[in-house]
This record gives sequence, structure tokens and C-alpha cells, in this order.
Amino acid sequence: MSTSFLIVQSGLAERLRKSRWPARLDLLQSGTGLLLAIFMWGHMFFVASILLGETAMWSITRMFEGYFFLGDAHPRLVSGAAAGVLLLFVLHALLALRKFPASYRQYHILRAHIKAMRHEDSRLWIWQVYTGFALFFLASAHFYQMLAWPQNIGPYASADRVWSDGLWPFYLLMLLAVEVHGGIGLYRLAVKWNWPGLSRNFLKRLKWGLTGFFLVLGLMTLGTYMKIGFEHQARYGERYRPAELPAWLERLAPEGDFPRRDPKEDAP
Ligand code: HEM
Repeated sequence: MSTSFLIVQSGLAERLRKSRWPARLDLLQSGTGLLLAIFMWGHMFFVASILLGETAMWSITRMFEGYFFLGDAHPRLVSGAAAGVLLLFVLHALLALRKFPASYRQYHILRAHIKAMRHEDSRLWIWQVYTGFALFFLASAHFYQMLAWPQNIGPYASADRVWSDGLWPFYLLMLLAVEVHGGIGLYRLAVKWNWPGLSRNFLKRLKWGLTGFFLVLGLMTLGTYMKIGFEHQARYGERYRPAELPAWLERLAPEGDFPRRDPKEDAP
């Protein structure tokens, strides 16, 4: 099929001048995808702080609420951050809609091509479409919760939500969707923009390595919230409060909230 035939078919031949917008929108989609992937890596490590214990997760949560800098906890700061990420998410999803098959016929043709060509990257792409579609719903519900009730984040509050409120199957689905989607997305970004110039084979191995790492971390994290939630179900609603903090952190806490200890006590 000649190039001129393709141009006539797509209607570009009738255009007076070539538009830069498709390229700009593609760049914007890649940029928002990259920012969301970086956010998700940070998010996974912060949520996984529960693996280090309740006090570690409590401290991370309070830090985002400004407790150690502003003299009190302001959960609305978390809503503000969530609103910013939501904006990125909506923009990214809107731009992705351009690439979704627009009818069952288009979808059917795409599936037939992927099957006939046995092209692995096209198969990866269709999985990105499936998981992206699932995230429209899953992430929206999660965003709503984080925006509306940011005060309900913490070792016991989160564990109660995961176990007693029965949200663990929801988190399990979202974890699978987000890790598969993000892993394929980053791989495709690297191939598309040829950055950082590594071979496809290496990038593919790196992609599976990262997806595997974050899936294992996510599953261990989810398991820990389920365990804490299970053990805490009789005291559902109670909030965690550490009896004491490490001396270096205690110094940052508002005056009088924790008994001041002699730093030498923490020395080994
Ligand atoms: C700023 C916005 C966000 C905040 C504050 C936030 C916070 C949290 C918190 C505290 C948990 C622990 C469970 C709970 O408390 O309910 C959690 C779990 C989770 N979040 Fe988010 N989240 C945000 C955005 C997102 C986004 C955009 C995604 C992906 C689309 C996402 C995916 C997940 C997943 C998969 C889990 C389960 C992780 C696991 O248990 O291994 N979150 N999030």
C-alpha cells in the first residue's frame, strides 16, 4: 500500500496544512503517563510503610498532613494532593480515549490482526487498553474516597477499610490493573521516544522485573493491611496512636503531644 494512498484514505490530503496537534497530544499523553507512573511508585512505597510497622505508616500519613511542619494535622492537604493527581488522571484518560477502538467492528479487526501477526507488542497494547478501561472505574472510586475522607487514612483506619469494610478484593483488582498498565505503559514510552536508548529485549525484561517487584510489594502490603484489619475488627473505628516516636521524629512533633525523652535513650 503506497504512502499517498494512506494519506488520501485518512483524509489528510484535503488538509490545507499539516497539524502539529496529534503530535502535541501524544506528547501530553506520554508526559501525563510518566508523571502518573512516578506518582504510583512513590505511592506504593508510602503505602508499603505498613511493612515496617504501624508507627512508620502513621508517621508517613501525618507527614503528608503537615503534622510535623504546621503544628497540627491537616488531612485536607491530602485531598489537595489527590485533586492534583486526579486532574492528571482525567487528562491522561481523556487523551487515551483517542486510541480506544471506537466500535465492536474496530475491536474485532484489531483482535484479528493481533492474532494473525502474533505481534507481542500489539498484544501488550491491548492489555493496556483492558487495564486502562478497568482503571476508569477502580481509580475513580479510590480517588473519591481519598478526596472525601482523607482523615480516614492510617494504620487502623486503612486496615479497617481493607478488611472490615471488605475492600480487599477491590484493592487486589486495582493493584493488578495498575501494575500491568503502568509496566506496559513505561515500556511503550521507552520504545516510542527511544529513551534511554536501550534494546527492546532489555526493556522488556526490565518491564517484567519492575512489574514483578511492585506486584510482590503490593501483595505483601495488602496482606499486611488484611492481617491488621482482621486482628482489629473487634475495635473497628479506633484510631492508631503511637505511645512514643523515635527521638529524631519526636523533636518535630508539636510541643506536648509526645513526652520529650532524652535522645541518649535511643542510642544503642
Ligand atoms: C493522592 C491520591 C491517593 C492517595 C492519598 C492514596 C492513598 C492510598 C492509601 C492510604 C492506601 C491504603 C489503603 C487505604 O487506606 O484504603 C492506598 C491503596 C492503594 N492505592 Fe492509592 N491513593 C491515591 C491514589 C491512587 C491512584 C491514582 C491509584 C491507581 C490508579 C492508587 C492505587 C492504589 C492501590 C492499587 C492500592 C492497594 C495497594 C496495596 O494494598 O498493595 N491509588 N492508596
